[in-house]
Amino acid sequence: MSFRGGGGGGAHKRRRTGPGGAPKQQHPDGTHIQHPFVAETTDHCETPDQAYKDIAPILEQLAISMGKTKETIKIYDPYFCAGSVKKRLGDEGFPNVYNECEDFYKCIKDGTTPEFDVLLTNPPYSTKPFDHIERLMTFCYDTGKPYLILQPCYVYCKDYWAACLLKRKSGNEAKPFYVTPSMRYTYRTPTGLRDVKAGALSTSPFVTFWFCEGGEHRDAIVKWWCEQGKTICPGCCLRLNPKALPRKFKDSHDDTRPRLRKKQREALKRREAKAAGLDPNRRMKRKKGPRKFNRGDAPHRKK
Ligand SMILES: C[S@@+](CC[C@H](N)C(=O)[O-])C[C@H]1O[C@@H](n2cnc3c(N)ncnc32)[C@H](O)[C@@H]1O
Repeated sequence: MSFRGGGGGGAHKRRRTGPGGAPKQQHPDGTHIQHPFVAETTDHCETPDQAYKDIAPILEQLAISMGKTKETIKIYDPYFCAGSVKKRLGDEGFPNVYNECEDFYKCIKDGTTPEFDVLLTNPPYSTKPFDHIERLMTFCYDTGKPYLILQPCYVYCKDYWAACLLKRKSGNEAKPFYVTPSMRYTYRTPTGLRDVKAGALSTSPFVTFWFCEGGEHRDAIVKWWCEQGKTICPGCCLRLNPKALPRKFKDSHDDTRPRLRKKQREALKRREAKAAGLDPNRRMKRKKGPRKFNRGDAPHRKK
C-alpha cells in the first residue's frame, strides 16, 4: 500500500527498495531482507492484527464450506513485506500459509504461483508505474478462486473492479461481498523498512476494508453471517453491494454516499479528531498576513 494521498506528493520523499533501490532492509528480528523486486518504501506496511481477527471467522466458514479445516485450507498471500504474515495467520489458527520473498509478477509470468484455496492479502497501493491493485485483480479474475483482499474503499469505483466482476469464460459468475470493520484500520511499517521518524511508521491514509469473492461458497457464508457471524464479529458489517456499505466506508466519488448537513459534518470532524487523540474543539487558525486573494477572486473559482 502507499501512504501517499490520492494526489501523490506527501510529506515523505518517494524512495524505492529492492534491486536498483536501497541495498537491504533491516528486519525486526535483526536479519536483513533483500526484496527481489523494486518497491516503493511507502508500500511497506503490514496487515493490522485487528484486520486478521475480523476476517478469521469468515475464513474459517469458507474453509468449512470447502470441506476443509482451519489447519488444511491453503492460503496464498502473494505480497511480501517482512515475513510476519505466516506467524500472524498462524496465531489465528491458520498454519497453511504461502508468503515468500519472491516477485509475484515474475511468478505469474513463469507460471510458478503456488496451488491455493484462497488468496488473502493486503496489496501495495502504489499506482503508476506499478498498478499493483489492478494487476492483482486481473490475477484474481483469471484464477477464479475465492479471495479476501484488504484494500482502499476507492477500488469499488474503478473500472478494473467492474471488469473483475464480469462473467468468466467458464461461465462462472463473480459473487463478491464486502466486510467493513468497526474502526478504521491503522497500518504499521516494520522497523527499518522506511527511514522516517518512529511516529510516521503508523498511519491510516485510506479508508480500507475487505473486498471478498466467495464464489459458490458465498451463500453459505452469508447464511452463517446472518445466523451467527454478526455476533461473533461485533461492529463488522457484511454487505453484498457497495451501495449498501455504511456511509463512512463509501468512496467520496460514490453518488450514493449521502451528503451530510453542516452540523453533522462538524460533529463527524469532532468525532474523528477525538478518535485520533486530537483536541476535538481545535480550530485551524489562518496564518497571519494579508489574504492572497479576496473572497471569490481565487483563480480556481469560476467567474
Ligand atoms: C502493504 S504490504 C503487505 C504485505 C503483506 N501482504 C501483509 O499483509 O503484511 C505490501 C508489500 O508488497 C510488497 N511487494 C511490492 N511489490 C511486490 C512484488 N512484485 N512481489 C511481491 N511483493 C511485492 C512490498 O514489499 C510491500 O511490503
